[in-house]
Amino acid sequence: MIDRIEELERQATAAIDEATTTVALEQVRVQFLGRKAELPNLLRSVSDLPPQERGAVGKRANEARKALEAAIGERVAGLEATELDARLIADRIDVTLPGDPPQPVGRLHVLTQTRREIEDVFLGLGFSVLEGPEVETVHYNFDALNHAPTHPARGRTDTFYTGDGDVLRTHTSPMQIRAMEQYPPPLYVIIPGRVYRRDSDATHTPQFHQVEGLAVDKDITLADLKGTLLDFSRAIFGAEREVRLRPHFFPFTEPSVEIDVSCFNCKRNGEPCQVCKGTGWLEILGAGMVDPNVFAYVAEHGYDPEEIQGFAFGMGIERIAALKYGIPDIRTLYTNDVRVLEQFG
Ligand code: PHE
Repeated sequence: MIDRIEELERQATAAIDEATTTVALEQVRVQFLGRKAELPNLLRSVSDLPPQERGAVGKRANEARKALEAAIGERVAGLEATELDARLIADRIDVTLPGDPPQPVGRLHVLTQTRREIEDVFLGLGFSVLEGPEVETVHYNFDALNHAPTHPARGRTDTFYTGDGDVLRTHTSPMQIRAMEQYPPPLYVIIPGRVYRRDSDATHTPQFHQVEGLAVDKDITLADLKGTLLDFSRAIFGAEREVRLRPHFFPFTEPSVEIDVSCFNCKRNGEPCQVCKGTGWLEILGAGMVDPNVFAYVAEHGYDPEEIQGFAFGMGIERIAALKYGIPDIRTLYTNDVRVLEQFG
């Protein structure tokens, strides 16, 4: 019996020495020390032996088991360290290599690019950027902007009303009032944002974007408006641009104008120009001098029309982008077809 134990111990020791991986070593452990292995079985059946043999056999078998467990433990530690080293070398990543395949980084939406370009121009001219609510009261959207009670834009065929009688703002102009309530003159601000109208065709979408501008100071004139928008037009459409003012009407400006920029597409190829339809001018925005009736709504905030004047303007970002990039149908800006969007910027 003792001979058999020693034979098993020798076999197991040799197997432990030969194992080169932790997996192989675990197999050796199961083979010699597992539930069904001979040595543990032998230990369990020591009580079946004649009493005079039990002591010696039990002692020897126990020693063998402990020695083998210790040998396996030691060898496991060594193998684990070796395997970890090997894995670290095999898994090493060279972070300086290019991605495989290199991923395209995408780009900003053309409307975001255009909004940022517009903001940059006016920031450069000393304007600040404000934002305002898209759900607006009738007071700010119409009343305080001098709209007559019967003005057609108030109708439900033109404007989205909420259940509470508020509106989805139809323009960014209500922010003229909110800005003047909040900040005393002199005031130079632009307000980009979403606006909503019941309108839908190739050049109108029910939701679109505007940038409002408001400058209030002493001695502001229509010439300041023209000079500011000439600078703007040249920054966006090219240094050769001219602007012209055409008379128009808005309830909250007097006088009111529409601003045209000279066509940047004409004479490119000698054929009749598709963009300006041969007129040489492109309408880009509405503007005017702030109506004294509007200042009356904010008189208590330091806006006395006897003391200060102002100009205001409002432009559609979609329209600016469509003109600049020649986009025939602005609805394509909202359908997320990357074949369209990839073409800009
Ligand atoms: N709010 C006007 C519009 O949406 C544009 C505008 C703004 C006109 C400021 C004059 C002054 O059509």
